[in-house]
Amino acid sequence: MGFSRRTWDALLLLLLNLSLSLLCSAEDPFVFYDFKVSYITASPLGVPQQVIAINGQFPGPVINSTTNNNVVVNVRNKLDESLLLHWSGIQQRRSSWQDGLLGTNCPIPPKWNWTYQFQVKDQIGSFYYFPSTNFQKASGGFGGFIINNRDIIPLPFGTPDGDITILIGDWYTKNHTALRKELNGGKDLGMPDGVLINGKGPYRYNTTLVPDGIEHETITVHPGKTYRLRVHNVGISTSLNFRIQSHNLLLVETEGSYTVQQNYTSLDIHVGQSYSFLLTTDQNASTDYYIVASARFVNETVWQRVTGVAILHYTNSKGKASGPLPDPPQDQFDKTYSMNQARSIRWNVTASGARPNPQGSFHYGSINVTDIYVLKNKPPVSIDGKQRTTLNGISFINPTTPIRLADQYKVKGAYKLGFPMKPLTGAPKTETSIINGTYKGFMEVILQNNVTKVQSYHLSGYAFFVVGMDFGEWTENSRGTYNKWDGIARATVQVYPGAWTAILISLDNVGAWNLRTENLDSWYLGQETYIRVINPEVNNKTEFPVPDNALFCGALSHLQKPEDISMANTIVSPGSTLLFALLMLIYALLSVPR
Ligand SMILES: *[C@@H]1O[C@H](CO)[C@@H](O)[C@H](O)[C@H]1NC(C)=O
Ligand SMILES: *[C@@H]1O[C@H](CO)[C@@H](O)[C@H](O)[C@H]1NC(C)=O
Ligand SMILES: *[C@@H]1O[C@H](CO)[C@@H](O)[C@H](O)[C@H]1NC(C)=O
Ligand SMILES: *[C@@H]1O[C@H](CO)[C@@H](O)[C@H](O)[C@H]1NC(C)=O
Ligand SMILES: *[C@@H]1O[C@H](CO)[C@@H](O)[C@H](O)[C@H]1NC(C)=O
Ligand SMILES: *[C@@H]1O[C@H](CO)[C@@H](O)[C@H](O)[C@H]1NC(C)=O
Ligand SMILES: *[C@@H]1O[C@H](CO)[C@@H](O)[C@H](O)[C@H]1NC(C)=O
Ligand SMILES: *[C@@H]1O[C@H](CO)[C@@H](O)[C@H](O)[C@H]1NC(C)=O
Ligand SMILES: *[C@@H]1O[C@H](CO)[C@@H](O)[C@H](O)[C@H]1NC(C)=O
Ligand SMILES: *[C@@H]1O[C@H](CO)[C@@H](O)[C@H](O)[C@H]1NC(C)=O
Ligand SMILES: *[C@@H]1O[C@H](CO)[C@@H](O)[C@H](O)[C@H]1NC(C)=O
Ligand SMILES: *[C@@H]1O[C@H](CO)[C@@H](O)[C@H](O)[C@H]1NC(C)=O
Repeated sequence: MGFSRRTWDALLLLLLNLSLSLLCSAEDPFVFYDFKVSYITASPLGVPQQVIAINGQFPGPVINSTTNNNVVVNVRNKLDESLLLHWSGIQQRRSSWQDGLLGTNCPIPPKWNWTYQFQVKDQIGSFYYFPSTNFQKASGGFGGFIINNRDIIPLPFGTPDGDITILIGDWYTKNHTALRKELNGGKDLGMPDGVLINGKGPYRYNTTLVPDGIEHETITVHPGKTYRLRVHNVGISTSLNFRIQSHNLLLVETEGSYTVQQNYTSLDIHVGQSYSFLLTTDQNASTDYYIVASARFVNETVWQRVTGVAILHYTNSKGKASGPLPDPPQDQFDKTYSMNQARSIRWNVTASGARPNPQGSFHYGSINVTDIYVLKNKPPVSIDGKQRTTLNGISFINPTTPIRLADQYKVKGAYKLGFPMKPLTGAPKTETSIINGTYKGFMEVILQNNVTKVQSYHLSGYAFFVVGMDFGEWTENSRGTYNKWDGIARATVQVYPGAWTAILISLDNVGAWNLRTENLDSWYLGQETYIRVINPEVNNKTEFPVPDNALFCGALSHLQKPEDISMANTIVSPGSTLLFALLMLIYALLSVPR
């Protein structure tokens, strides 16, 4: 008995449609990662300490994906503490279940496995991941996260000859538990012990300043080529100035948006920010060159040790880098230059992003704002005898039951809606208070920085438009200065001391999304909240259902089974087994000669 070719084709089509309807993203390829998170001993600044490694690597491996890929990361927690990995800047569309923050996920207990699965939907660009709880980021556990353009979408520049991830960040020789203790004890962390570049200490550019025996990072390049450098500030709380001796940095992308392409001799990269530069290796390689990341807006004499130095080595180099480091901007007390530089970072409105149509067709400047929040931070205060930081007078306490789980299982009182729209004038208080976002609304958030240090703010789940920043207090009149045309869309923005930054957000992603300061000490002490965005019409299209491997905690602890090996290894959400079976069947049928 034989089916005709047409019958086969019809049958295949039917099966294919059936499988695709089970998991809408199934047509997109999967990338798999297995992350064993554990302590290893390293001495990046010459002092042995326990750092958090992934698969024995510090920093962790780069996740390399392409727009719309399904990313599966099996995380094995070999630490002695609970763990969550957060995918900073990855929008987790419809799935705050995978965002890896205490407001959205129960933490992975020590010795447990948990598998993240999400789609990098409609995104391109340079991001990174890090452990989001227990101050663990101060001990490592971070790595780059790349989303490449699909082949059909051209890059707004020639294909680079290489793609290099550079993680820079301030570093303490004390580990995260010791640092946590200091903060809990009401202390300030003080000056960092150094800056690491890709997990390594400074090149010995000065024998007095840098002790012997410290391993440094070397980036080897060929002459006459163009490299894409993806630079991320993964540090705790220090704004860094990034520069490469004798080279220009052509800025091309930041956190998922292609920028107007401009050369910089140095760029300020604030905590949590990511940038792509094109580096043309056009120098004569008479020597190697310094790559520098140094603390910004500090007294250089006092902060000399807070300087990361790596080496750019040409394959035809004639000698070692020598002499003084390239100069940083000389403006410790005047942040105008830095702010002007930030304002110069604009969106290339004609470049394609994740989609072929120009992103610039989204005219954010003509959309009416539905919700306005003025969020003001303050220096740390004591609340009930504990050091805390606040936003609008509220110091955030994480819910014991994550926000959307509490919603799904009708847990009452897990959190409070109605985060204040303006700074509260009364006594500061601790609260699990979150923002009631309007689904499909358009939100304006003004971040007002009342401390003496630059702070950066990050929003999960979205890229927001940076429309303005200036010194002084924001007023309604400040709107007259907004950039309504080519403000950059990104996920992490700096707010200068005594200044404001205004952002616009199109609330089209359903879930609970973290809005926080990236300065880890201030974040740890309470400077964060969540925006809860809910589609009043309940369906599984605008938000995925609770994943079947969801962990339970807080009021829902009773639902948590002891770690179940089959569950821990279940990598695909509902319908997956059937889907897999169907796909295998289709594959089998396709391989039958017709
Ligand atoms: C962190 O440092 C403290 C104090 O030095 C030490 O007691 C603790 O064992 C360290 N923890 C880890 C995980 O290395
Ligand atoms: C990422 O993967 C793509 C496709 O496999 C490959 O061409 C590219 O070189 C990789 N990029 C990095 C930085 O590893
Ligand atoms: C090394 O640094 C010290 C302290 O800043 C300085 O006095 C000295 O001149 C530097 N040495 C060189 C070779 O630059
Ligand atoms: C940036 O600088 C490089 C030299 O380092 C030069 O070739 C290029 O034309 C400059 N590009 C822009 C857009 O200024
Ligand atoms: C090129 O190399 C020579 C030494 O080989 C050096 O003297 C000269 O300054 C270099 N020129 C540039 C532009 O770097
Ligand atoms: C920087 O610190 C040094 C050493 O404490 C001090 O002598 C100098 O005056 C300071 N510079 C400025 C600009 O404050
Ligand atoms: C903007 O992107 C286009 C590609 O769409 C590119 O040709 C152009 O050079 C870019 N413009 C600037 C100013 O970077
Ligand atoms: C914005 O609001 C104004 C007045 O409230 C109204 O005239 C206009 O049509 C609105 N624009 C859009 C795009 O909704
Ligand atoms: C939250 O906002 C929605 C409109 O977006 C409104 O219907 C609802 O009443 C608000 N809930 C609270 C508790 O404020
Ligand atoms: C903090 O706010 C107070 C009151 O508005 C203001 O007087 C002060 O200058 C602000 N400080 C900074 C650094 O913004
Ligand atoms: C959403 O999906 C869940 C699990 O797959 C299912 O139990 C629920 O009925 C669905 N809800 C709607 C409104 O379709
Ligand atoms: C954890 O993951 C590893 C690697 O995927 C697997 O071998 C192991 O069985 C898993 N452990 C549990 C308890 O699921």
